[in-house]
Formats: sequence, structure tokens, C-alpha cells
Amino acid sequence: MRLLTKVLILVMLSFGCVSRAGEAQSGGSIEQKVESLLKKMTLQEKLGQMNQINWPWERSKAKVELFAEQVEKGRISSFLSLSVLPMSVGERNELQKIAVEKSRLGVPLIFGFDVIHGYRTIFPIPLAQSCTWDPMLVEKAASISAKEATSMGVDWTFAPMVDIARDPRWGRIAEGFGEDPYLASIFATACVRGFQGRDLSSVRSLVACLKHYVGYGAAEGGRDYNTCEIAERTLREVYLPPFKAGVEAGAATVMSAFNEISGIPAAANRRTLTEILKVEWRFEGFVVSDWDSVNELIKHGFAEDQAQAAHKALTAGVDMDMVSQAYLKELPRLVIEGKVLESVVDEAVRRILGIKLRTGLFDRPYVDPKLAEPTLLTDENLQVAREVARKSIVLLKNEKSLLPLKKDLKSLAVIGPLADNQGDLLGCWYGAGRADDVVSVLQGIRSKVSSDCDLIYAKGCDITGSSVDGFAEAVRLARKADVVILVVGESKDMSGEAHSRASLDLPGVQQRLVKAVHAVGKPVVVVLLSGRPMSVSWIKENVPAIMLAWHPGTQGGNAVADCLFGDYNPSGKLTTSFPRTVGQVPIYYNHKNTGRPASDSIYTSKYIDVPNAPLFAFGYGLSYTTFEYSNLKVNPSKISTGQSVKVTADIKNTGTRSGEEVAQLYIRDLVASATRPVRELKGFQKVHLQPGQTKTVSFTLLPEHLAFYDVHMNWVVEPGQFKVWVGPNCTEGLDGGFEVACRASRPVASD
Ligand code: BGC
Repeated sequence: MRLLTKVLILVMLSFGCVSRAGEAQSGGSIEQKVESLLKKMTLQEKLGQMNQINWPWERSKAKVELFAEQVEKGRISSFLSLSVLPMSVGERNELQKIAVEKSRLGVPLIFGFDVIHGYRTIFPIPLAQSCTWDPMLVEKAASISAKEATSMGVDWTFAPMVDIARDPRWGRIAEGFGEDPYLASIFATACVRGFQGRDLSSVRSLVACLKHYVGYGAAEGGRDYNTCEIAERTLREVYLPPFKAGVEAGAATVMSAFNEISGIPAAANRRTLTEILKVEWRFEGFVVSDWDSVNELIKHGFAEDQAQAAHKALTAGVDMDMVSQAYLKELPRLVIEGKVLESVVDEAVRRILGIKLRTGLFDRPYVDPKLAEPTLLTDENLQVAREVARKSIVLLKNEKSLLPLKKDLKSLAVIGPLADNQGDLLGCWYGAGRADDVVSVLQGIRSKVSSDCDLIYAKGCDITGSSVDGFAEAVRLARKADVVILVVGESKDMSGEAHSRASLDLPGVQQRLVKAVHAVGKPVVVVLLSGRPMSVSWIKENVPAIMLAWHPGTQGGNAVADCLFGDYNPSGKLTTSFPRTVGQVPIYYNHKNTGRPASDSIYTSKYIDVPNAPLFAFGYGLSYTTFEYSNLKVNPSKISTGQSVKVTADIKNTGTRSGEEVAQLYIRDLVASATRPVRELKGFQKVHLQPGQTKTVSFTLLPEHLAFYDVHMNWVVEPGQFKVWVGPNCTEGLDGGFEVACRASRPVASD
């Protein structure tokens, strides 16, 4: 069968076989083609276009035959396959052939897959990628993922995830770009460009999907899928901006979220899906529900049965139903009974067909199996993966310049459950990534040290569990070593979907291992691998050097070693606050001042047992060199609404190594008709400086950077004083200010 399929496909490919649909659709604009198809469609065929099915985990013959039959009848528009089980090119082409050659109208299928931070070459988790503060590099990584994935027959990725997360208990914090809407918007744009490229119809363009729309990251208690309460202003200022940026960058699809916001489940929220996304933002692509979330409207208590769920989701603006099949089953009756207008169905189908046409699927429905493998894990892909991984590493502490290490150490002990570990470096949602492809931290270190170095390794303990049996060996080796590198943290299964944690401590007995090894008295470096910010207060207090490498992907071990031994000078900066203790969450730098900001006085907004400040703040990260900021200029010092302000500062490399600094620009609108955050990121620049070199960074604050939703929810710049900072993170920097003079008579920037 497989051989037959291959022969068939090769024949098709070599004859440049064009689908019936392709022929039928040649000529005319996309809109005309959509309308002409739509006219020919039966109601069942239309609903088929709105139906997405999961490619089965267990591929029984009966199931595959059933799917084939449904495809032939035009009842399936799209397959998605789970990250653990990507579909083969042969299987994909086989199904596509049925859709294109045998179904009545020959509309091709669109194949989706969660390519979140890589297909086979796995890049660091998105949260880590954001710590590069390098959108061009992140775009490059996304374009490599697109190249690998499309060559394997994936047309559509369910990424980027652009949910803002302020609570590290939430496992999916790993999948997003951190806590700041400005930064996340920039990465949303970069990813959409990287996945889709300039031309959606290009053979290497992977359709992007902004998810999860919207507010999913605000889950109460950090518990996945939980309820969210989000006020309209917070929604617009914090949670919506990355989606809007992604839509403006041309994202072809959006996924509705699982959560409800203030009583309205995201999969049936007409205000967010239709009024904001489709009308206000003029989004022209289509909305897919999240997994079974149309059905879940019943459990939410928002629909009494599947029919009502289908009705509510469709009329709210969900165009394609992922998995639940509620549309296919229930909408025929609802349309016939006049409860749902066929024109509403038509509108959803229009959007879906429009994207299928724009992607070139009608013209090029098949994937050439010969082109698949050569795109995977190429030298270039691996080199970019290493570059992203080392740029995403954040140096959290480096007392007495313990790092970088010398390569000619006499003996080096590498200890910890994540040291000789490949699989966990992949992180959550690792696409078609394989543990065997991963360079472990131990391997990375081994390839750096001189052959005379006595490199010794002990696991010490498991990532979880309570056994301390391995401690004695770990301590014995630590005694023998000049320096100890402790590689600790979380497994790949401790973050991502449905993997929220109530504790942010190191799991299992790892903290005890760190203490036992530290007690030996040798210089210790902790390399932290995790999918979320962790509260590592004891380590910060006691261990001289801490390097945060997140879940760094296929080239993780090499990247860590590059940083440990100074072949790369760390430049990553945090994009999420690191709490001292889980009791501080939600914690984020752009909070409000309150009427009683924390002070020495008792009756102020603070805890009696821990400071308000995080363990490590947003924007924080060290380098092996030092940078000095000077000469802040804010020009002009007085503007009227609608005008811009130029902010410049000098940055000097005052150390002895070349290095990169991420200069960050923050503002605060001091008095406004609705209270404003204590600081808001409005720009950043990454500068590379040789020792002794000075460069000037320059930012332009545009009206859109100064505007906000006023008391009437108008997007305006209000007159008054603004404070401005340029610095290395959200707590330090040079500060200045400027004044906005006259009151805005009307909104200044479109939103
Ligand atoms: C997740 C989505 C994912 C989808 C398909 C859902 O459970 O929430 O992020 O894209 O599954 O795998």
C-alpha cells in the first residue's frame, strides 16, 4: 500500500498533476473563486469546510477508511495531528488525493500541526526566545520551522501563542513571550512573518495561527483552562495588543481560547471574535476553535446541548470547529429550521476557502516527498538553533566573575538530573523533535574542555521524587573538582498545556542536592533549565553563579557550554518577573502604584514576610562585561498631543570583553484620567560594544506610545507630565521627563 502510494504520488508529481479544483479555480480574483465555489456547494459541503478532525493517535484501518470516506464526501476540511505523532508525507498526500481527485468539488484539505518552537530542529521554548530581545533572529527561527514543517506536509501551525502571562504557575507561560504587551506584540509580528514569509502562497509559507484568543493567560490561580476576570481596559491594554499586532502582520488564522472572560466563554464571545477581531481590526482570515471547545460550551454552562453550542460558537465568530464535530452534526438541522441563517455559514466558509486559495493549496495540493528530509536538521538550522539558544540564556548572578570558566580546568564536576539529559531540553510542544538529536549540557561541556580536564559526572537525584541515594556520590565528586556545575530544574513535562504547578520551587529533592553540593565549599555554578520562572531564593542567596537556560532545544548543551566558557558572552534579559515565592504571584513589572505604594509605613501595599520586589526583575540579565549609561536627552521637553519625543542615551562598555546590551526605554504617564502603570516598556535596542566603546541609542516616542484608553475608553494622549527611563532593566536606568501640553480633542491614533 505504502509503495503503491509512493509510486502514485511520484507519478502525480512528475506529471505536474494539477487538481480538478486547481483547474476549476484558475482565473479570476480570489474573491471570485471563492464565490464560484460557494455557489456550487451543498450545505453539507459547506459545513464540511468548517470541520477539522484530529488524525488518530491509533491509526486503525477502519478509522483511516472512515476518514477517507468522509474526505471524499467533502465532510472534512482539515486534519490536525498532535505534536507527538506527526503525519507522514505519504499519509498526507494520500488523503489530499482523495480530497482533490475524488471529492465532488476537489477542495484541498489543510493540514495543521503544533509547530510551536520548531518542527524537527527544536529552538528554545518561546519564553526563552523572547529573552533574546532579538525579533529578527526569532523571525529567522520561525522561518526555519516553516521550511522544515512545510517540507513534511504541514500547511498550518497553531502558533504563535501570544497570550500574556503574569503567573508562572500557569504551565503555558512557556509557550508565550512573557508579561509585556509591547514586547509580545513585536515577537508576534516576527513570528507571523517568519512562519508565513512575505507571500502566503509560497511553497515554504506556513499558515500562522494567533492563539489563544483571548485572555487565556489570566487563568485564576494559574490553573490551566480556569476562569478569567478581565476588565475591558486591561483586555485592550494588556491581552489584545499582541493579537492585534499579529493580525496587522497578516496572520491568516486565529484560535479562540478555552477560557471564559467574565462569564462569556472565548469560543462564543461575539464581542471579541466578531466585533473586535473581525469588524474593528478587519481580520480577513478565519477563526478556528481550540480543541473541542465548541462542545465545552456545554460544560461551561453556556449551552444546553451540542446544537446550542454550535449555534453560539458560529454566530459569535468561530469559523472552523476543531475536533468536536458539533458544526457538522448540528448545523444542518439548525439551518433548515431557520435558526441559523445559511448566510452566516457562507461567511465562515468564505473565510476558510479564502485562506485555502491564498496559500496556493489549490494549485499545489501535494508535497514532494523527495524534498522533505533534506530540509530537516541542516547545518544552517542547527547553527541558528544554537544562536537562538545562547542568546536566550540569561546570566542571573556571577559573583566575583566566577564565569566564564577556563577551558583548561584540572577537574570539573557536572552534577544534576538535567546534566546528562537530552529529552527534557526539548521543552513542551516539541513538534517532531527527537531526544536523540539533542546535545545535552554534559556533551556540550565535554566538547569544550581540554582533554587534560578530568570531567566527572553524577546525576545526584531525579528531577522529581524523594530519593537522596545519589547525594553521596555527587558530594564525593564535588570534593574532587575545582569547580562544580549543577544542572537542575524542570522536566519538559512540567510546563505547557495542562501542566500548571502550585509550587515554583525546584521539584523533588533538587534544592537539597544543591545545598549538599554547595556545602562542600567548591565554587558552584547553577545552570537552571525550566519552562517557567522559578523561585530560587536560596540559590540566589548562596550560590555564586546562576545561568538560566530555560528549555533550550536541540542545540541546548552547546549553547550552555558556549556561555559557560565565554565563547559567547550572555546577553539575554528576562521577559517575565521571577518571584521570590509563589505567594507573590501574579507578579509583573507594569503594575499600578496603588493609593498606598509600599513604604516603611505599615499601612501600605506590601507583605509582612517578603518584599514586593521580585527575585529577578523584568528586563534583568547580566553580561561578562559591564555597561554604563550616561547622557540621557529628552527632546523636546514639551510637546503637544500628536507630536513625538526623541530620547537618546550613551552606553559605554566599561569592561574588558565585547558584549551586547539590551537598552530599554520605559515611560510613566504620571497623572491620567485612568491610572497608569508605574512603568511601561516602549522601546528597546540591542547594541554590540567592544571594550571601551560608546554608542548612542536613540528612540522616538510616538503618540501611539503615549496614548491609552482614557476614562471614556477613547484611545488618546492626555496632557500632563511623563517620566522616561533608559536603562538595563525595569528597575534601573537614567531618568528624565517631558510634558504633553494641550488636551487632545479627539483620539490620536487608530486602534
Ligand atoms: C491546545 C492548542 C493546540 C491544540 C491542537 C489544544 O489543546 O490548547 O494550543 O494548538 O490543542 O493541538
